[in-house]
Amino acid sequence: MKPELFTKDTTSIVYGYHVNAIQRMLDFDYACGRKTPSVAAIVNPGTDGVHKVFFGKGEVLLPMYGNFAAAADKHPKADVVVNFASFRSAFDSSMEALNHPNIRTVCVIAEGVPERRARQLAATAKKLDKMVIGPATVGGIKAGCFKIANTAGTYENIVESRLHRPGSVGFVSKSGGLSNECYNIIARNTDGLYEGIAIGGDAYPGSTLLDHILRYEAIPAVKMIVALGEIGGTEELRIVEALKAKKITKPLVIWVTGTCSKMFPAGVQFGHAGAKAGSDLETADAKNAALKAAGAVVPDSFDDYGVKVNETYQRLVKKGAIKPAADVEAPALPLDFAQAMKEGRIRKATTFINTISNEKKEELEYLNIPISKVLDSGMGIGGVIGLLWFKRELPDYGRKFLETALMLTADHGPAVSGAHNAIVTARAGKDIISSLVSGLLTIGPRFGGAIDGAAQEFKRAYDAGLTPEQFIKDMKKKGTPIPGIGHRVKSVTNPDMRVTQMKAFCRKNFKKTTLLDYALEVEKLTTAKKGNLILNVDGCIGISFVDMLSSTGSFTAQEIDDIVKMGCLNALFVVGRSIGLFGHIFDQKRLKQPMYRTPYDEIAYMTDL
Ligand code: ACO
Ligand code: LMR
Repeated sequence: MKPELFTKDTTSIVYGYHVNAIQRMLDFDYACGRKTPSVAAIVNPGTDGVHKVFFGKGEVLLPMYGNFAAAADKHPKADVVVNFASFRSAFDSSMEALNHPNIRTVCVIAEGVPERRARQLAATAKKLDKMVIGPATVGGIKAGCFKIANTAGTYENIVESRLHRPGSVGFVSKSGGLSNECYNIIARNTDGLYEGIAIGGDAYPGSTLLDHILRYEAIPAVKMIVALGEIGGTEELRIVEALKAKKITKPLVIWVTGTCSKMFPAGVQFGHAGAKAGSDLETADAKNAALKAAGAVVPDSFDDYGVKVNETYQRLVKKGAIKPAADVEAPALPLDFAQAMKEGRIRKATTFINTISNEKKEELEYLNIPISKVLDSGMGIGGVIGLLWFKRELPDYGRKFLETALMLTADHGPAVSGAHNAIVTARAGKDIISSLVSGLLTIGPRFGGAIDGAAQEFKRAYDAGLTPEQFIKDMKKKGTPIPGIGHRVKSVTNPDMRVTQMKAFCRKNFKKTTLLDYALEVEKLTTAKKGNLILNVDGCIGISFVDMLSSTGSFTAQEIDDIVKMGCLNALFVVGRSIGLFGHIFDQKRLKQPMYRTPYDEIAYMTDL
């Protein structure tokens, strides 16, 4: 097997949908200045698709496959597998990967892989001349080239440990946690790491400390080797033999952890499955002594580990064996918006403002009133309109005024513009929304859309102190029909009972009907000219609405002005008349009416005009 496992072009297949680890791998790629992601594909058993992930400042889509074979076949350049499968399926998935011709290295993250299975993995790797890192590992890192999973922690730590560009030190340990610590020690005491591998803490790792030490021995760019052993097992004694046999000629700084075990009763088990001395030979003290005797650089304690690393490094620099690697500025990793928001490190201006309702709470609230309270209060739809349209809890007569307006405008038969269009559209086979909208589109300055205009013009005239005569003259001069005056079929001799009802309601419930009284004076003059120039239902609603707001006493004159100017009252006709339009639409559908075509006797063909 070639000693180099990873290069700047290495790509991998990640087995298991571990999005955070994948993101950290691609962030490392960005730090190293890689132009292509080190993850070629994801295996997410049973699920095909894509995974969107940040790659530097941009995003890339990583293909996701439901099975390993599909991923490996589609991405032949990927020769590393980072296997996140749980201990239950880690063996089978790792064996499948190892036996695939494209794959050279398999990293098994899972803890709890049975020893028999772990030994099978190691034996298969040896037979196939491939590499297994793990089980029970965080993986490893090739500085400036490729990072396995979550090795080396955060982007900040990677840059601080100068892992984004290669140094001169090859490192191997059993412990993933201590590996990250040692990357930092190496960064502070040398020109940095060349490559670091954590073989995992199981009794039977897929590859051993010596395997990697011998790899580093064969890599010219590695000038010194640093290792961290552990109490238990005889692995470090094999390193002693290799030192004696001159298989390791590069300076090796090594420490075996677990020297504190002598303070515990015999046979204490440390964190890793393999970290238990079965005999005196396997104790940390014995192994450190043997390594020292064989020529390794062994500190007196872990406290001096960095000192020995530095002394060894300086000695190599002094004799010209190491030309310290230059420091390289790592690009600043763009802040992940969601993460930065979560940490409160950035803030984002909102693009919408909403002051009327909140559905994000446990219970929907209208103007901070829980919906259950809205219902229990008996405020009705008039009250809800008060809250959501006018941001006020209206008095009972105000709520009833709005409900009365809705009831009075709900319908006025099939002949009017809106109903006609809705019916024709429904009979053309259109859906109910399209049929409704077709009807609503006829609402405007002449039909149903004069409520705002009436409120605005009559209030303007009244506030300006115009007499009814002056008002009428003023509008005539503008050439503008007075909004709220006139009707196609209603007149003084055929009064609109809706207006009669509304007037009676206002007189009964409002403290004053100042503007309505003014409007009725206007009506006396207009109907004197033509019987159909009555105060129509639009006019009556718009004008009485102004009287209603004044009567509550909870709206200032400016607020009333603002509401009237905003033009929200035609909405009352839209909401009310929608009820009737739906009625006509359902009526036509119930009657299964055919498509409507205007009869010829309704049309004057005057093409010679
Ligand atoms: N103000 C002043 N003069 C008017 C008005 C008015 N609002 N409406 C009609 N007139 C006059 C016209 O200027 C015309 O005068 P002329 O004969 O001297 O030329 C005469 O009355 C007839 O006008 P028409 O438009 O033919 O009358 P019509 O009966 O068709 O108009 C309509 C009815 C469309 C409602 C009209 O009165 C109008 O536009 N009113 C203002 C808008 C309005 O309030 N619409 C709401 C109606 S209610 C509802 O839709 C629910
Ligand atoms: C309506 O409410 O639709 C009517 O006032 C209009 C009309 O022409 O009847």
